[in-house]
Amino acid sequence: MQTIESVVAMQNLSRAAHRSGRTIALVPTMGFLHDGHASLLREGRRRGDLLVLSIFVNPTQFGVGEDFEAYPRDLARDRAVAEGAGVDVIFAPPAGEMYPAGYQTYVDVERLTLPLCGASRPGHFRGVTTVVSKLLNIVQPDVALFGAKDYQQLAVIRRMVADLNMPVEVVGMPIVREVDGLALSSRNAYLSPEQRQSALCLSRSLRTAKALYRSGERNVATVRERVTAVIAAEPAAAVDYIEFRNGDSLEEVAVADDRTLLALAVKIGTTRLIDNCLLGEE
Ligand code: PAJ
Repeated sequence: MQTIESVVAMQNLSRAAHRSGRTIALVPTMGFLHDGHASLLREGRRRGDLLVLSIFVNPTQFGVGEDFEAYPRDLARDRAVAEGAGVDVIFAPPAGEMYPAGYQTYVDVERLTLPLCGASRPGHFRGVTTVVSKLLNIVQPDVALFGAKDYQQLAVIRRMVADLNMPVEVVGMPIVREVDGLALSSRNAYLSPEQRQSALCLSRSLRTAKALYRSGERNVATVRERVTAVIAAEPAAAVDYIEFRNGDSLEEVAVADDRTLLALAVKIGTTRLIDNCLLGEE
């Protein structure tokens, strides 16, 4: 396994791999790797001859007052996880390599970025689509893997890749959870043991919604009431949003079907957590 920090060195390595007929799989991350990231890496290992993991805490996707400086970082530990997952190359550029002096180009996906996290975090998706475009241009992968944990991000990236005719296959992977239901996230590292217990209200409310749906409830207002009640029962939780949307267009829905997305953003103390499910999934 090798670590590359330079954009030009990464592009040269990718070009050489393609010339020798090898395919490339890319897993973009911000590091502080957990089993969710590892599941993407395992699938990437299966799908590409050369497996590239990018680790870059991307400043342009963090808003003012968000946790860019505090975001957890541990490259030594990430290296060990990457090695275990069969990564060939870690691409870990310094910020100045990705955004040198004079930088002024951004990629913007329109309607899909308006609701949900786009509404709560203005500019966030512009940062995500910009950095992902750059990573795709630098690593030139045949396949890039993303998690459904960030459902809107995955939808936005799929849209961008289609709209800009980017020659890469986007693969979405299911959410990896702890045994008690908590969705794995690098930001879980911010939670105290008590807060971690409180954070279970997110996955609990998703289970409640899916059970209601399975029992035949299709009225979104009714499901929303129950989800709201489960989260309200947890004193440490403050709702950012609870939304029911079409799983493809992300437009609001009043009547639920199998492809209805329930997306949550909830603050536990100062930590903002997101989780989601499709009501029709197991
Ligand atoms: P990061 O939060 O590090 O996540 C990297 C990838 O891992 C994303 O595709 C995310 O959806 C996936 N992931 C995170 N938690 C997961 C879980 N519990 N189960 C399955 N997959 C999970 O998302 C980002 O970084 C950044 O926005 C990035 C795309 C790298 C652009 O900077």
